[in-house]
This record gives sequence, C-alpha cells and structure tokens, in this order.
Amino acid sequence: MSSRLEAEHLYKVFGRRPDEAVERLRQGAGREELRAEGTTAAVIDASFTVEPGKIFVVMGLSGSGKSTLLRMLNGLLEPTAGQVRFDGQDLTALGSRELRQVRSRKISMVFQHFALFPHRSVRENAAYGLEVQGVPRAERVARADEALALCGLAGWEKSWPDELSGGMQQRVGLARALATDADLLLMDESFSALDPLIRRDMQDQLLELQKSLKKTIVFITHDLNEAMRLGDSIAVMRDGRIVQIGTAEDILVRPADDYVASFTQDVDRSRVLTASSVMDTSVTGHEADCDCPTATPDTPFVILCAISARVTHPVAVVDPRHGVVGVVPKQRLVGFMGDQAGEPSPCVSRRERGEKVIARA
Ligand SMILES: Nc1ncnc2c1ncn2[C@@H]1O[C@H](COP(=O)(O)OP(=O)(O)OP(=O)(O)O)[C@@H](O)[C@H]1O
Ligand SMILES: [Mg+2]
Repeated sequence: MSSRLEAEHLYKVFGRRPDEAVERLRQGAGREELRAEGTTAAVIDASFTVEPGKIFVVMGLSGSGKSTLLRMLNGLLEPTAGQVRFDGQDLTALGSRELRQVRSRKISMVFQHFALFPHRSVRENAAYGLEVQGVPRAERVARADEALALCGLAGWEKSWPDELSGGMQQRVGLARALATDADLLLMDESFSALDPLIRRDMQDQLLELQKSLKKTIVFITHDLNEAMRLGDSIAVMRDGRIVQIGTAEDILVRPADDYVASFTQDVDRSRVLTASSVMDTSVTGHEADCDCPTATPDTPFVILCAISARVTHPVAVVDPRHGVVGVVPKQRLVGFMGDQAGEPSPCVSRRERGEKVIARA
C-alpha cells in the first residue's frame, strides 16, 4: 500500500526575515532581488501531487532547489510557508517526535553517495532503518535479506561494504530504504554517481521493483534521459520555481519555455515519443479500410518507424473506439527526430494525396 503525497505552495527561504521574504515573493519579487540582500529563496511556491504508486521526477540545474524541496517533503527542513501532506496527514503540523516517527516508518531516503557503515556487514547496513524502528533482530535480518535479494544482492549479506563495487553499495542503500516498508521513497540523485551502464541497470531494476512494490517515489535527477525513463510525471525546476509539470512526452513536445526546451535537446526522442504526438490530426473520424499495418496512439516512435518503412503511404493511427485519429507521413517522422520538436515538418496527408486508404465509417 502506498499513499498520496501533496505539496501545497511550499516556500523555503534561507537567511534573514524569511517570512517577509515569502511575502515579497508572493507579490512578485524575484530570486535575484532577494539574493542581493543576502537572502536565498531556495524553493518558491512549489505545488504538486504524487499519486500513490507513481514516480514523480524533479529535475533542474544545480542550485535550482531540488534537494531543498525534497528535504521539506520528509520534514528534514521545515518549510518557510506551505504544506506537505502524506497519506492525508499534514506533516508540517507535526511536532518533532511525531515527525521522527513518520520519518522512520513511512518515509525512506536514498542519497547520491549512500554512506554505508564500513564496520557493519551488508546485512546490518540494510537492516539499519529497522534497527532505528526497534524491530526485533530476527525479523530485521529476515526483512533485510529479503530487500537485499530484491536488489540483486542475495549471497552478499555477510560481506563488508568495501568488498562491494560502487553500484552494489548503492543497491545496499536502496535495499535499506526498501527494508523499512516505507510507502514514500525519496531519492536524491541516487544513481548519479554510478557509471552509465550500472546506472541504466539500476534504473531498470527500480522500474522492475516498482511493478510489484508500487511505492510513491520522488526521484531527483539532473539527467533528462533518466527523468524520462523513470518518471510518470516530471517537474522541471528553475531558480527555485517549478516551471513545468508533465509527462515525458509533454515536456518534450510541449516545453513550457526555452529553458525547458534547452534541456530536451539531447534527449533520445525515439524512446519517448508515441504516435499521438507525431500524427497529423487533420484527418480523423474514419476507419482504415485496407489491410495495411496501422498504429495506435500509444505506439512507440521506433515501432512507428518500422511500420512506416513497410508501407509507401502515411501510417494511419487508429483508436479502437474512435477510428482513425490521425496519420503519420514519413516526412513527419524525420522532422520529429530533429531539434524542431513540436513543429511539424511539412507533410502531405494521404487524403491530400488522394489515396483511397481511408474510408468514411
Ligand atoms: N542550508 C542552507 N543555507 C543557505 N542556503 C542554502 C542552504 N541549502 C541550500 N541553499 C541554497 O538554496 C539553493 C538551492 O539549493 P539546493 O541544494 O536545493 O539545489 P539543488 O537543485 O539540489 O542543486 P544540486 O543539483 O547542485 O544538488 C542554492 O542556492 C543553495 O545555495
Ligand atoms: Mg541537490
């Protein structure tokens, strides 16, 4: 069971007279203006909801406020203004003892450089969160071993941390977080210190684990490819503010501004786009009446390319309930692989070319 996480108008200001600074930010003052006076507006008016069992990715450049935002979610930092609710409970209203309890039972955090205790075995490291909770030893060991196995570390329980590679140590960190059964996982650049292949492997492993664990996860990264692989939705932060929240496809095809667009330049579009973003929707409401291969709105871009290669005319995109919802001419595929995402390249629809492949339903 996992639960909903809600952040409402969160602010975190470091420096003098933070409340006054929040008021000024509400009235439109900028981060730079406050900085000139020695005050840092680390997070400005952040609101979002993470549905139970979903992965919410926060990305943005260094200093944009990601870690500060994350630390407010588990109460490590007290918000200057705003609310955090998890499982219906207002965390910002809790006393420090209650907050510690919620933190040890319901929330786990995995950091970038996960500090393992060098003089404890892998098993004892994985069981650490349970020890804090006061779970009896036998149960601790059983749950730690189970979590280690989930993370691909069965057989390493009795090893010492320095006998493990960096990637394996990071997995012990993940196992520690999973062992506590916390519903909310907060991950701050958890995979960033790993080399690219191991990093990918960890991403796959997290997605695989998530299929059965269905935790509510907030994952911070500055790597958009990672964000797009993992995120059910993605928030992009700039200078303390969330400038866009959307799916990977939203961010890629409909970036809110040039800042967001600049992030997406190096993204492997073929892994993110689906037919629904690429198709020309001026042809709709009909049924394909030939035996040609068609696509559905969620057909991945790479498959779409494969289909397109097999036919000479545009590919019809067919929704089971609504018939043809669009068409994808070859030129359009080429256009979307370039850097002009969202700007359809000139194309000729089947209908304009007078091909009789689509008939009225
Ligand atoms: N305890 C603190 N006191 C004063 N300023 C702070 C504190 N923590 C963070 N800041 C400032 O708040 C801003 C946001 O920092 P934060 O660590 O949240 O950024 P980030 O997006 O996580 O960056 P990175 O990608 O480098 O980890 C920065 O300008 C930082 O200097
Ligand atoms: Mg950070």
